[in-house]
Amino acid sequence: MESTDHFCTAAGTSAAAAAPRMALYAQLAEDIAASIRRGAWEKGDRIPSVRQLSRERGVSAATVIRAHELLEEQGYIESVPRSGRYVSDSWRQQTGATTRTAPTADPLTPLDPGEIVFHLLDSIRDNKLVRFGSPFPSPELFPLAALGRTLGLAAQRTNPWRTVEYLADGSLELRQRIAQRYVHRGANVAPDEIIITSGALEGLNLCLQVVTRPGDMVAIEAPTFYGCLHAIKTLGLRALEIPTHARDGVDLTALAQALATAPIRACWFMTTYQNPLGACMPSAAKRNLVRLLEAHDVPLIEDNVYAELYHGAKSPNLTKAYDRRGIVLECGSFSKCLSPGYRVGWVAAGRYARAVRRCKLMSSLETNISAQDAIAAFLRTGAYERHLRRVRRVLANRLAAALKSLDRHFPAGFRVVRPEGGYFLWIELPGSVRAVDLYRIALSRGICIAPGPIFSQRREFDHFIRLNYGYPWTAVTDAAVATLADIMRALMVKAAA
Ligand SMILES: Cc1ncc(COP(=O)(O)O)c(C=O)c1O
Repeated sequence: MESTDHFCTAAGTSAAAAAPRMALYAQLAEDIAASIRRGAWEKGDRIPSVRQLSRERGVSAATVIRAHELLEEQGYIESVPRSGRYVSDSWRQQTGATTRTAPTADPLTPLDPGEIVFHLLDSIRDNKLVRFGSPFPSPELFPLAALGRTLGLAAQRTNPWRTVEYLADGSLELRQRIAQRYVHRGANVAPDEIIITSGALEGLNLCLQVVTRPGDMVAIEAPTFYGCLHAIKTLGLRALEIPTHARDGVDLTALAQALATAPIRACWFMTTYQNPLGACMPSAAKRNLVRLLEAHDVPLIEDNVYAELYHGAKSPNLTKAYDRRGIVLECGSFSKCLSPGYRVGWVAAGRYARAVRRCKLMSSLETNISAQDAIAAFLRTGAYERHLRRVRRVLANRLAAALKSLDRHFPAGFRVVRPEGGYFLWIELPGSVRAVDLYRIALSRGICIAPGPIFSQRREFDHFIRLNYGYPWTAVTDAAVATLADIMRALMVKAAA
């Protein structure tokens, strides 16, 4: 009976004992209403039936019916005769709540430099922004429909035993196809040395865990990818920044000196189309880098996620091609060049393969098996190579358009090195313009850029920004460059006053 059906909260606490007890139907209605208010249900979603709710909550059908009546009165649900009860949004008018929108970052809050990267990653979720600050490639570059069909087929054909077959290492076919691609580029990598990961970021973190212990020193580039800074901090490591140039990459003289004088346990570098610089080390420098690290027996964790995105006719040489002793742990990914959301990457881990495999097993077991099969099929048919040729051409054209736009609009004094691959421009701002000021004002005008300090553990590079030129270059993007230029001029005038 309803009158005996009461909900009891935190039994035994004096506060609970003193609080009036809520009737069970009212508590059930409030649980559902609260989850609607918090966004777990959308308008039009069907709510569970009387029978289902009464079974799952262990209450009488009468309790559920009274809860439904209350929710209807309050405007949370409406019933459709002979169909069921559906979530309504009339409660918003009754309570004055606004429609739920995707969370966006507040553009004008004063920003702690360490927080800017999270602020930036929140901001780029807003699809009304011009996303010059995005780290992601433009989604229209990808053959998502064709890949989706391949994924559908792969999922239908999935052999249930694959969940155990693929444990830790991943699909043998995918590892073979990746190994074949290394041969094209002069590196000899066995499928056994490859571990498939959930994106390169997982691979990089696994490698760092395998080759270091808390307190160790890791040589990194300055500036560098913020994911590297974050991983080093999280694992309790110390970073030693090595100057890195926008054209030729890591300064090998500075690195040699650091290796001779500091207890460097590992290096984490991007030798091909470095993020944020766009730098690609010349082949001879890559070879010298590997020889130097061999001499000190220091492993190189190489983040190589942009290596396929060269704009010219010839692919750059891989550091892995000079690796005779298995000290290069190369982390690759399909995120930047084929399938951003599939989260499939790999590590070619050299002599650390066994340790990386064990670490993968203990951290995430394996990578999504259907996504691995879909990508393996895409590589098998040659569709991947055709797609890459198109993307490289498109990016080269967008780079030319972006450089033209900068030349046309930016105030004199800015500097940029033309990259040979990837989709980032590292721009030195003119005069006294600070990147963090430009970031905040630009965001309030609908333009997102990546300010230099997010790429440095000491928050340096405040006169630099990274600009993603990989999105379609249109009149809107050109106008956004003109707006950035206006903001810079205003900041220069203010600084001079
Ligand atoms: C330099 C660099 N490394 C790694 C990653 C992460 O790659 P994935 O998406 O494959 O995890 C990114 C993504 O922004 C990146 O820019």
